[in-house]
Amino acid sequence: MHFLLLGAIGRTGKHVVSKLLSQGHTVVALVRDSKRIKPQSNLTIVSGSPLEQSDIHAALTAVPSLSVSAAIFTLNTLRKSDSPFAAQVGPPRFLADSCTNLCAVLEQAGVRRVVVMSTAGVGD
Ligand SMILES: NC(=O)c1ccc[n+]([C@@H]2O[C@H](COP(=O)([O-])OP(=O)(O)OC[C@H]3O[C@@H](n4cnc5c(N)ncnc54)[C@H](OP(=O)(O)O)[C@@H]3O)[C@@H](O)[C@H]2O)c1
Repeated sequence: MHFLLLGAIGRTGKHVVSKLLSQGHTVVALVRDSKRIKPQSNLTIVSGSPLEQSDIHAALTAVPSLSVSAAIFTLNTLRKSDSPFAAQVGPPRFLADSCTNLCAVLEQAGVRRVVVMSTAGVGD
């Protein structure tokens, strides 16, 4: 299968990348800093932000010969430290807006599978 991954550089996302590749899948990763992810075969890296639907769409269509079967979302809110109780830095609605954008782009493209790694209290 061909997967779109948001959050590929994060603590969870890097394991998702290696697991998918080791199982013979292909992955396209949307990352904001492509220098921070190791190029590997079957991994396509697209620079951009999940806050921009056009960037998500660019990643979705980055490998014209492959259709994305499913998206995986392992983004997280950045905090001042690794403590989950540390003050949040970055856009206050980063996760909600990124998830909304992803779902909108997937729906438009007819991709009906998305896995979101999240935490308690995410609401809708
Ligand atoms: N780690 C845990 O122990 C744990 C436990 C329970 C639940 N969870 C949940 O699992 C999910 C993923 O957690 P994680 O620890 O794997 O995440 P993480 O390591 O903190 O990674 C977060 C990812 O989000 C990206 N990101 C953050 N702010 C961004 C922004 N403004 N624009 C673009 N990208 C941004 C980061 O990109 P950069 O690499 O470019 O900074 C990074 O790749 C979260 O919902 C978390 O609550 C995690």
